[in-house]
Amino acid sequence: MQFNNLAFESENGIGVLTFNRPKALNALNSEVLSELKQFCEAVPSLDVRCLIVTGAGDKAFVAGADIKGLSEKPIAEAGATAEEGQLAFRALEELPIPVIAAVNGFALGGGLELALSCDYIVMSSNAKFGLPEVTLGLIPGFGGTQRLSRCVGQGIANFVTLTGDIYPAKYALQWGLAVDVVEPEALMDVCRKQAATLASRSSTAMHLSKRAIREGYDLPLREGEALEVKLFEEAFASEDKVEGIAAFIEKRKPDFK
Ligand code: HXC
Repeated sequence: MQFNNLAFESENGIGVLTFNRPKALNALNSEVLSELKQFCEAVPSLDVRCLIVTGAGDKAFVAGADIKGLSEKPIAEAGATAEEGQLAFRALEELPIPVIAAVNGFALGGGLELALSCDYIVMSSNAKFGLPEVTLGLIPGFGGTQRLSRCVGQGIANFVTLTGDIYPAKYALQWGLAVDVVEPEALMDVCRKQAATLASRSSTAMHLSKRAIREGYDLPLREGEALEVKLFEEAFASEDKVEGIAAFIEKRKPDFK
């Protein structure tokens, strides 16, 4: 697959998708968002069991929506502009495979919103994050007002969004935004190791787990439990369940297809 602003490579079922506009700190313009959506549509046809998302260069993951691009948008296109990003990030969020955000530098505005659309975040110790939209007279538009509070709770989401300040990675760990903060040189190795573990799990079970967590999040508890029952039944009827349980009983590693 060839893109102007995304690089993709894969090995042993682990894909690495790199946002690749380092001169603009990998900022997201319409073309990048459209490429992300195309990439997500192509994922089921790729031989990939786990995806790592990162940014090119050592300075930025993604520094947000392309501000120069935003400056050229007429007011009438504001809603469509936000929806364009939301749809691309939704496509990423709904991928059937697990997605790790390897945040290797600035994750600001749309960059943080991108990371929040992945299943979880690992940050390098020199990464910085924030939602600086209020410094531009804007609000987050690619899902940030919704996903940040779901991830870290409303108080911290209020704090990050209203200050618009840029925060060091240690706060991501403290606030539960990132699952780990590691030395910059170790970031990709740590993520690849985690990806290898994920790639060895049942892809059916991971997909159903992702759906149960994401779709259940917005439901009342009893409805969420009902959803869990439905998805549990699907897992129970799967070939992977036969293999996983047989492997346990036979004291061997499962070989999921
Ligand atoms: C376009 C960007 C950019 C962005 C950086 N660049 N961020 N271009 N959009 N979001 C460009 C700069 O213009 C510059 O290009 C080059 O990348 C390097 O950036 P510098 O500013 O020179 O680097 P530095 O001084 O180290 O500062 C890094 C930075 C700063 C703190 C990350 O670039 C910054 O504050 N960027 C904007 C971050 C931001 O506000 N993001 C939120 C965007 S709004 P040149 O050509 O000058 O060298 C958003 C809304 C989403 O995301 C919702 C929309 C609907």
